Amino acid sequence: MKPFKIAAIPGDGVGKEVVREGIRVLNHIADIDGRFCFSFTHLPWGCEYYLETGAMMPEDGMQLLSEHDAILLGAVGAPGVPDHISLWDLLLRIRKGFDQYVNLRPVKLLKGAPCPLAGGSPEDIDMIFVRENSEGEYAGSGSWLYKGKPNEVVIQDGVFSRFGCERIIRYAYELAREKKKSLTSISKANALNYSMVFWDSVFREVGKEFPDVQTHSYLVDAASMFMVKDPKRFEIVVTSNLFGDILTDLGAAISGGMGLAAGANLNPEKKYPSMFEPIHGSAPDIAGKNISNPLATIWAVGQMLTHFGYPQWEDAIVSAIEEVLVAGEGLTPDLGGSASTTQAADAVIKRLSMQR
Ligand code: IPM
Ligand code: MN
Repeated sequence: MKPFKIAAIPGDGVGKEVVREGIRVLNHIADIDGRFCFSFTHLPWGCEYYLETGAMMPEDGMQLLSEHDAILLGAVGAPGVPDHISLWDLLLRIRKGFDQYVNLRPVKLLKGAPCPLAGGSPEDIDMIFVRENSEGEYAGSGSWLYKGKPNEVVIQDGVFSRFGCERIIRYAYELAREKKKSLTSISKANALNYSMVFWDSVFREVGKEFPDVQTHSYLVDAASMFMVKDPKRFEIVVTSNLFGDILTDLGAAISGGMGLAAGANLNPEKKYPSMFEPIHGSAPDIAGKNISNPLATIWAVGQMLTHFGYPQWEDAIVSAIEEVLVAGEGLTPDLGGSASTTQAADAVIKRLSMQR
């Protein structure tokens, strides 16, 4: 039996509730499957930890994480701690420190999930976003000159390396080839006359290795319009860090809401652990009430199983979530139900057992 070591970082707010349920689903699947098992290291890092210790994670935190096969993250952020501190010192530190350069985010309208688009259907809204996750607009490069003076100047650089662009674009082409889908690149070369002109040229160059993959290129403004008006244009999508951040929130809105949006931060070479998380935040307004939606985290756990080599379990999880949505049972308030976080996870676990 293959043992996997998982570092669980519930983080803040509803992160604690949803990670608890993600762990329950992982253990349930391990019981049914029998080929693997999980051990968990529970790490109480986050904003509370920061308020007590002055740091979001201990000094040897990255070392400790590196001894695991994967990380399950809940959510980070709390009132009282500036967001740029809590996120740069925990979430972004892990993404960058472990070179998790692929942020893989399904934008798929599940059967039974609500969709605000007129006529929006599961056949038409079925994409996978490949968001660059290590550099670009999130490189953290810049300067702040003459702070507080009348001549104050702030510069935030976008960093697009050939190495960074090629590897994310090649990953997306490979995914499109494997899934026999089209690949759309989203950029903004008309205005960002260095970075995005470069991005587009790398997209064309790498494309020469993939003559079998059908491609499209959109400007980000037009792409956001088409995601609403004609989402079936998009199958596999590759884009920069910030554009991917923004468009995947739009993607979540058209595919059932933030409660269903999962994301994987992958180091495809497996030199470092990858990290799996719901895209939603810590939702302090509903935290501690056990009414947050655990489905995004449960899907993220499915992405973890795909990463470990068991993609049939991600499929099984997605089907179980669809069955729950179609039956309308065990839904949390964000989906119009009155179930608790625990009951929502129970409903998925029940369906997973019934599939067997
Ligand atoms: C996300 C989040 C993060 C991001 C924030 C919290 C730094 O919005 O995972 O999409 O911008 O990447
Ligand atoms: Mn985001």
